[in-house]
Amino acid sequence: MTRTFPPDFVWGSATAAYQVEGAAAEGGRGPSIWDVFSHTPGTTLNGDTGDVAIDHYHRMRADVALMAELGLGAYRFSVSWPRVQPGGRGEPNAEGLAFYSALVDALVEHGITPVVTLYHWDLPAELQTTGGWTNRESAYAFAEYARIVARALGDRVQMWTTLNEPWCAAFLGYASGVHAPGITDPVAALQAAHHLNLAHGLAATAIRAELGPDTKVSVTLNTHVNRPADPDHPGDVDAVRRLDAVGNRIFLDPMLRGHYPDDLLADVAHLTDFSFVHEGDAELICQPLDLLGVNYYCTGAARQFRGGVRESSTAHGDSEHSPWVGADDVEFLPMPGPHTAMGWNIDPSGLAELLHRLHDEYGVPLMVTENGAAFDDRVGADGTVHDSDRIAYLHGHIDAVGQAREAGVDVRGYFVWSLFDNFEWAYGYERRFGIVRVDYDTQQRTRKDSAHWYARLVASGELPV
Ligand code: NOJ
Repeated sequence: MTRTFPPDFVWGSATAAYQVEGAAAEGGRGPSIWDVFSHTPGTTLNGDTGDVAIDHYHRMRADVALMAELGLGAYRFSVSWPRVQPGGRGEPNAEGLAFYSALVDALVEHGITPVVTLYHWDLPAELQTTGGWTNRESAYAFAEYARIVARALGDRVQMWTTLNEPWCAAFLGYASGVHAPGITDPVAALQAAHHLNLAHGLAATAIRAELGPDTKVSVTLNTHVNRPADPDHPGDVDAVRRLDAVGNRIFLDPMLRGHYPDDLLADVAHLTDFSFVHEGDAELICQPLDLLGVNYYCTGAARQFRGGVRESSTAHGDSEHSPWVGADDVEFLPMPGPHTAMGWNIDPSGLAELLHRLHDEYGVPLMVTENGAAFDDRVGADGTVHDSDRIAYLHGHIDAVGQAREAGVDVRGYFVWSLFDNFEWAYGYERRFGIVRVDYDTQQRTRKDSAHWYARLVASGELPV
């Protein structure tokens, strides 16, 4: 049989500024916390940095032409805040805005819808000197930056995403410390989460004030799908509840329901009384969402710590510090295979489950803003990459999206992560997610089999299953 997607279903692919642009010290760009972090020894695999990345800053036009050849309907990219405001505040850098304006023009010329993410983790380094996301002022600075970008691009951009995966920014950045700024302080992570929520709400308001109510505002979350190791063990069920509170509902509930979950506040009461939440913040954060962006890769199995040697999660980098604040007695079990090169298990049923849950519990239109896989690609003598494993991954997950849609879940689009191989944060260039291969020595782009496969799917809207 065939799963048929409607003509208005958005087919796209995604990247993020620090992962692809390079040109880290060009065009008036200021340093971001990821420049500082990746240049600190021991933070990334092989000491890799985004200094050059895949040189998208200089190859933007050819890259957009490639997207057009693939027939992509939309391109999700992020704007580098320090390219627009080198120090995070004050007058915009015209050269930085000109780059994004030219990118948007190129996309529009090719009939590709631009989907703009305002924050994909590259905070201007100067804002970190005053505490980064632990400082409430960063949220107000972000809203001002959002207003600047909306004003510059809003005549051609109708789809805005405030934040990408604030869980990673807060908990990998401030609790486990495997991401920039590399801090390991659980209370700072909770504070950062709140200020990211506030940043989202203030930015959503600023975008609408600038562009009017018809512009589409979204946020992208990496809502985790964890299941209890033993569904009949109350401790395991409670372990999953805790992970859900601090991993998912800490963003979903204030953004979509206007309050933090009571169980989260209880779980972390021994750490903080949440006094960093000010009167009126709930209203500022809970702004109407036109779409919720869903990033999905894998599932987890968790249980109450039973003693002995602790099992640990491979999913979020190695750190002796846990990102799961307030869930200290929780451990993750190794997941059965197959796995991707990240060590993440392949489980499309988790995506279907997640889409149903978000639809049922939060009633908001959804868009899969990231899904994809790293594999150890082998390049043939003729330059081809026969990545049937990646095609199978994409096929399984797009099928799950189709099933959810057929069951009535409102999913409006799907974006492959990623269009190109790129800088995979703490894993540097060793993990390749692209449907287009990048030779990092020559910067040559070569379509993998998955790119040809995806182009055919995009053209037909039909997935044979
Ligand atoms: C989530 C992030 O948004 C993206 O930057 C990252 O490369 C992918 N997932 C894969 O880990």
